[in-house]
Amino acid sequence: MMNTANTIEQLKVTWRCPSNIAIVKYWGKHGKQLPCNPSVSLTLNNSYTEVDLSVSPKTGNEDVELSYFFEGERNDAFGKRVAKYLADNIEHFSFLKDHAVEIQSSNSFPHSAGIASSASAFGAIALAMFDVEYQFKGQDIDDAFYQKASNLARLGSGSASRSLFPQFAAWGEINGLEGSSDLYATPVKNVHPIFHNMCDSILIVDDQPKAVSSSVGHGLMKDHPYADARFIQAKKRCSELLEVLESGDMDKFITICESEALTLHAMMMTSKDYYLLVKPNTIEVIDKIFKYREKTGVPVYFTLDAGPNIHVLYPKKYQSDVEDFIKNDLQESCISTIFDHEGQGPMKMNK
Ligand code: PMV
Repeated sequence: MMNTANTIEQLKVTWRCPSNIAIVKYWGKHGKQLPCNPSVSLTLNNSYTEVDLSVSPKTGNEDVELSYFFEGERNDAFGKRVAKYLADNIEHFSFLKDHAVEIQSSNSFPHSAGIASSASAFGAIALAMFDVEYQFKGQDIDDAFYQKASNLARLGSGSASRSLFPQFAAWGEINGLEGSSDLYATPVKNVHPIFHNMCDSILIVDDQPKAVSSSVGHGLMKDHPYADARFIQAKKRCSELLEVLESGDMDKFITICESEALTLHAMMMTSKDYYLLVKPNTIEVIDKIFKYREKTGVPVYFTLDAGPNIHVLYPKKYQSDVEDFIKNDLQESCISTIFDHEGQGPMKMNK
């Protein structure tokens, strides 16, 4: 409801944005949240953040007036991070001049489940903010909307930039991917049917907060002895992965995916302030996956985020075999499992 030319009494939008899992990993950043190497990820479906964002006339005179709630409770710690993020990017949002914002955020997955909640949270916040701005300007949602939101999501959490697109998305400039940029993610469109409907079962082996945050990890790439070689490798692997996605070479896909997971953790183990995020059960599960694949020929493989939990990936065609394998052989090494799969990207909800 509009009361004057530029003030709205109340407007609410709701966006659901999924998390994603990187196949080629982003690790190391520079400048204003720019990646040292490009990355390619798979967007998930069941693991998402939903954000209700309401605007109403301002009551105070702060640049950004924000109330932030997580799962129904006020969360001032994360709220401060989001308020700073909005203040840093205030030039995109004319409505912030006269309006206060309330964000109610909730996740579909348990806290500390090892799922990148910052990716889905910043994705959903960026979409909701631009939706409101577009409504103030009387603009319709178009492709540019998603690109702008991806750019903004990146500034909150790099990996969030990729969550805005269905299936596979790339962030960072990649040889062979037209329109790719370090500023926002680009959807990967030429994907062979063998890679459609990929399943991702997330095995939680440890649900404690991480000992070392991803931002500290990114920072340790600054004077890392292997940094230059790693950035060259990741760039090359992104181009290779795009070719593999197009040609349907599953074996090569598996090699890139698993090697990327181990390379990411090798970077942590070989940085000046070295650290180890994998747990004995992480190794045990990986070993069982190698053996099962060797024995059965089923294309089941793994990747890791910056944590100890294992993403077990496989084509939907093998779902019943792999779920039996998970239940019979892997679940004894984990606390819980989240069964997820490739998703279609974010969704505006009508509430
Ligand atoms: O987006 P950040 O700052 O949380 O970093 C994500 C880093 C990895 O998840 C390890 C890799 C990636 O590309 O998502």
